[in-house]
Amino acid sequence: MIKNTPPMGWNTWNTFAENISEELIFSSVDAIVSSGLKDAGYEYVVIDDCWACRERGEDGRLVPDPKKFPHGMRYVADYIHSKGLKFGIYSCAGLLTCAAYPSSYDREFLDAETFAGWGVDFLKYDYCHKPLSADGANLYRRMGLALAGCGRDILFSACSWGADETHEWIGTTGANMWRSTGDIVDTWESVRELIKRQYDILPYGGVGCFNDMDMLIVGMHGKGHVGLKGCTDDEYRVHFAAWCLLASPLMIGCDVRNMDETTYSILTNRELIAIQQDARGARPYICRNFTDDVPVIIRQLANGDIACGFFNLSDAPANTWYAADDLGVPSISGRTLCGKELYTGETLRAVNGILFASLPPHSCKVYRLRVVAK
Ligand code: GLA
Repeated sequence: MIKNTPPMGWNTWNTFAENISEELIFSSVDAIVSSGLKDAGYEYVVIDDCWACRERGEDGRLVPDPKKFPHGMRYVADYIHSKGLKFGIYSCAGLLTCAAYPSSYDREFLDAETFAGWGVDFLKYDYCHKPLSADGANLYRRMGLALAGCGRDILFSACSWGADETHEWIGTTGANMWRSTGDIVDTWESVRELIKRQYDILPYGGVGCFNDMDMLIVGMHGKGHVGLKGCTDDEYRVHFAAWCLLASPLMIGCDVRNMDETTYSILTNRELIAIQQDARGARPYICRNFTDDVPVIIRQLANGDIACGFFNLSDAPANTWYAADDLGVPSISGRTLCGKELYTGETLRAVNGILFASLPPHSCKVYRLRVVAK
């Protein structure tokens, strides 16, 4: 499947890990629809690891755990589809999944056929327990081929965490997104590390195969499987804005049945989502003129606007700036830049060709800038 914009959805892992069930999926699907997350663009409902029985069936096929999914996966898919959403499932390229359930090594074609038969629309494909002798690229190419030939349009979400120089070969596997980082946890340090990890690998992502910065922790507040310290709402704002500007897939990881208002407003910030979903698909870029902790993240947009995010990942306040000229709008053009901050609505106009931002620690200001007459 070719998808021109990075996928959006919800995934069970960050909060629920092995505590998954048909009931959880159905109630979360209902919440995605009734809360308005679906209308905001969240589309894929992804069941992560731990959904299967520990053994394959007599026919060699994967079997959903009957205690968790008593009516099987076709039934789950039908419910998800009946609500206008899409169904994602999880498997792994190695000998076992990361939580030691059966995976698809040497069974790629059979499993792709099974998933297609269930009505799966998305496969997250992990990298644990890879035999030392196996070649990672080859394992992903196998599943890429199996999915391409399975008779159903299934989005291929590779999850090899950037290991074994994934960026060099992932584009040859048919994957539509690739996990470019290790696992996120619900702390500020994790968010900061995953943003910085993008600095050197942005050129490897984009339309065709998006850099996946991992699932969102917005709104977890220390609860659930990867919930550790939790973050402040401002830190969650930085996290969400960075994922949007960097065109990462947006896979919600909190319990969508129990979101507070701030969580909901961050996750449904339409203007940030519009940047992440921008139809032109231009690759974002990062300027680190100051320090690695005060990056400016920039993306040209389809209507001629420029998204420009000033980030302060450091523990001290920071004053930062960027020149309109460096954004592609020189003074000699007779034009300048002005725009609106996308969380607060506050406006900004370049002064003598310079855009200034004053940032408290762990904060950001993200502007959608228009090119206007000086
Ligand atoms: C790995 C992945 C996670 C999650 C778990 C499941 O750690 O990176 O996103 O899928 O496996 O076991």
